[in-house]
Amino acid sequence: MVYEVYVRSFADSNGDGTGDLAGLRSRLGYLAELGIDAVWTTPWYRSPMVDGGYDVEDHREADPLFGSDHDVPELVAEAHRLGLRVLIDVVPNHTSDRHRWFRAALAAGPGSPERARYHFRPGRGRGGELPPTDWRSVFGGPAWTRAADGEWFLHLFAPEQPDLNWDHPEVRAEFEDLLRFWFARGVDGVRIDVAHGLLKDPAFPDLGADEEEIAQPPDRSGHPHWDLDGVHDIYRAWRKVAGEFGPDRVFVAEAWVDRPDRLARYVRPDELHTAFNFDFLRCDWDAAALREVIDRTLEALGAVGAPATWVLSNHDVVRHVTRFGDPRRARAAALLMLALPGGAYLYQGEELGLEEVEDLPEEVLADPTWERSGHTRRGRDGCRVPLPWSGSAPPFGFTAGDAPTWLPQPAHWAELTAEAQAADPGSMLGLYRAALATRREHPALGDGTLTWRPAPDGVLSFTREPGFGCVVNLSAEPYELPGDVRVLLASGPLDDGRVPPDGAVWLARS
Ligand code: GLC
Repeated sequence: MVYEVYVRSFADSNGDGTGDLAGLRSRLGYLAELGIDAVWTTPWYRSPMVDGGYDVEDHREADPLFGSDHDVPELVAEAHRLGLRVLIDVVPNHTSDRHRWFRAALAAGPGSPERARYHFRPGRGRGGELPPTDWRSVFGGPAWTRAADGEWFLHLFAPEQPDLNWDHPEVRAEFEDLLRFWFARGVDGVRIDVAHGLLKDPAFPDLGADEEEIAQPPDRSGHPHWDLDGVHDIYRAWRKVAGEFGPDRVFVAEAWVDRPDRLARYVRPDELHTAFNFDFLRCDWDAAALREVIDRTLEALGAVGAPATWVLSNHDVVRHVTRFGDPRRARAAALLMLALPGGAYLYQGEELGLEEVEDLPEEVLADPTWERSGHTRRGRDGCRVPLPWSGSAPPFGFTAGDAPTWLPQPAHWAELTAEAQAADPGSMLGLYRAALATRREHPALGDGTLTWRPAPDGVLSFTREPGFGCVVNLSAEPYELPGDVRVLLASGPLDDGRVPPDGAVWLARS
C-alpha cells in the first residue's frame, strides 16, 4: 500500500505557503496511523518549478523551496523508524532547460557532442523555420522549440523540459549512477516518470494524425515516441542496479500504454517490480467495464508473474470523487480497490474525500497546460490544492505562516480536515483507516487471487480465500446479501440488511 505525497501540497513547515520535506516529516505519524506501507514523494529536487518539479535541474540536491540536503536523510530515517518505506520520483525522459547538460548544449552549438545528449535537429522548410516533425507536446503546442542558432530541440512536455537522448551512453550511465546515489542513501524505491517515453524512433517520422489524436493516441503500437520496445533494455539494466542493494529496492513505472499486455512487458521478472494500472484509473463507474479491466489486468500481469496494482487518483488526473460524481461511489470504489489482489496506490487527500477544485481563479493556475493550450485546458491544479489538516478556515493547518497557500483551499474543506474526520468512524478517513487495518490483518487480502460469484447485472461480487467476500453494488436496486455472511465493513449504511446502490461491503463467511 503506497501513499503518494505531492510534496508541494502536503504540509508546510516554514510558513511560505508551499509544502516541504520537513512538513512531510512532521506528518509521517499521520501516515503510519493511516496504515500504509510506503510513501512515494513527487520530485523535490532543484528545479525552476515550471512543471511542479518535474523539470529537474539537479537530481542529487533538494530544492531550497522543499528544504535542504539534510532533510532527505532525516525524512528517510524517520520514515524507517515508523516502519514506512520511501520511494522517490526519478524523471529520466527530460531535464530542466537549466540543467548543466542543457546549458552546455545550448552554448556549444550545432553538431557539438554536448547537443548529442538531447534531440537537436535542423528544421524543415527553406530556412529551417518549420519544426523537424509534427509531434505535439503533451501540454499542448508543438513538441519542438527553436534555439537561437536555428536548431530545434525536442520536448514532449514543456519547452523548459528538453527530452534526453537515451541512445547516448552518457545518459544511461548518469541515471544508473543517480539510482546508486539515492539507493546508497537509504531510499527504498523509485517511481519512474514517463517510463514509456524514453526512446524515440531514430527516423523521426511524422505522425500525420490530427492534433487531438496525437496528444491522446487511442492506440500506441508503432508510435514513434511512446512505448518503444527498446525501453525494456534500460529497465533490465536498472533492475541490476537495484539488485546491487539487495532484494528489497523496488521500481514502479509510470507507463501510459494502451493494453494490459503492453504494460506487463514492463514488469517481466528481470525488469521493474510494478507499474501503475491506469486502465483501472480510467475506467468508468460501470460494473461490466470494471470487471473486464480487473480480469484483463490479473490475466496479463499473472502471465509474467507480477503483482497487480490498483490506483484511482494521482496528481495528474481529476480526483475520483469528482470523476465518479459522488462521494458514496468514491467510498465504494475504495473498498473495491482495497479488496483486489495485489497492491494499491493512494493519492494524498483521497482518504479525506477531497474533490477536484474546479473553480480555482485563472490567475493562480500554475500547470503549464493552461498556458500551452492557449487557455483552453485548465490543467491539473485542481487535484493539487494543499491538504486541509485542522481548524475551521484556510489554511487549515497546512502552513504555520501568514503567506497564502500556493493554491487557495475551498472554505467548505473545514468539514473535511484530517482533524474533523479523525474522531468520526463514519468519515472517509474512518473508512480508509478501517479498511487498511482489516487489509493488514485479514489473511485473504493483499496478494492472491479472486473468484467471481454470480450476481445480478450491475453488481460485482467476488470471494477470496480464506473466507472473505466483497460486494459492490453499481446497479440502481438494493442487493440482498446471502444469509451465511457477516459484514466486516460497509462503505455506508445498509438498507435493511441490503447493499444500497453505490454501496460496497466486505464480508466474512459465518
Ligand atoms: C508525469 C508526471 C507529470 C509530469 C510529466 C512530465 O506524467 O506525473 O506530473 O508533468 O510526467 O514530467
